[in-house]
Amino acid sequence: MNRFSLWPQAASEQAARVDLLFIGLLVISGAILLLVAGLLLVFCLRYRRGSSAPRGLLPGFLRRDVEIGWTTGTLFLALFLFWWAGATQLRAKDPPAGALEIHVAAKQWMWKARHPNGAREINALHVPRGEAVRLVMTSQDVIHSFFVPAFRLKQDVIPGRFTEMWFRATEPGEYRLFCAEFCGTDHARMGGTVTVMQPEDYARWAAAQPQEENLAEEGARLFTALGCSGCHAPASAVHAPLLAGAYGRMVHLADGRTIRADEAYIRDSILQPKRDVVAGFEPIMPSFEGLVDQGDLQRLVAYVQSLRGEAAR
Ligand code: CUA
Repeated sequence: MNRFSLWPQAASEQAARVDLLFIGLLVISGAILLLVAGLLLVFCLRYRRGSSAPRGLLPGFLRRDVEIGWTTGTLFLALFLFWWAGATQLRAKDPPAGALEIHVAAKQWMWKARHPNGAREINALHVPRGEAVRLVMTSQDVIHSFFVPAFRLKQDVIPGRFTEMWFRATEPGEYRLFCAEFCGTDHARMGGTVTVMQPEDYARWAAAQPQEENLAEEGARLFTALGCSGCHAPASAVHAPLLAGAYGRMVHLADGRTIRADEAYIRDSILQPKRDVVAGFEPIMPSFEGLVDQGDLQRLVAYVQSLRGEAAR
């Protein structure tokens, strides 16, 4: 694994796409280089001092048609490259429905991961091969960046925000995880291992981890302890939006905007409830800024997500 190699291991679908893009750009750039250098050489020889090659005005079609042709051609080539690179990047932002969701929290200087069944790990991440895995990430202090070269994926992890990325690993094995954003003294040591396992091995591994409450269950307890249930529970007398089935839906706001109720929206609603008020409701919810930390926010968000299966009433 420590063998020196110019080409990093490729272990995800995204890696294959990025490599194809890289090779494509290399081939196209190489072809242009050869064409320009070749023409340069030909002209140097043909129009060297003392040669009898004609030096007058070029024929008309060369002055106009060829000029228009190569300008248009390179324009479309550049637009094609833009589309290709953009589509490759955008795909990494758009997880398929039903992806396995793992919460990642970064802090100086470690990575903490939490699996759907409550299994936790530090500086390690076990994932099943062939399944879409979506990481929902936040930082407890400064900006870090989650970087797995073998997956060709890198995403900043930011305090006070959720960022996400997804991948489908293709090759069982162990791959390095780095922090790719300078975050303090031990930045260089902040890393770990991503272990890609066969799905049945992953299921066995996850089941063998110490059983703890999962994030959503902890969130449910916080939901009651913080008093959220006083207004947001179905039986409450207070007129507040019900949360069952709310996650992932489009929400109409009082000021006419429409917004998707994703992790970021739920988080913002807890910290700045007056900012994106749902249409038809009074802005009466107090802010929980300072009362909940990043970990609590992850738990509460996980709880609201866990209600997505329940029908809205
Ligand atoms: Cu965390 Cu660099």
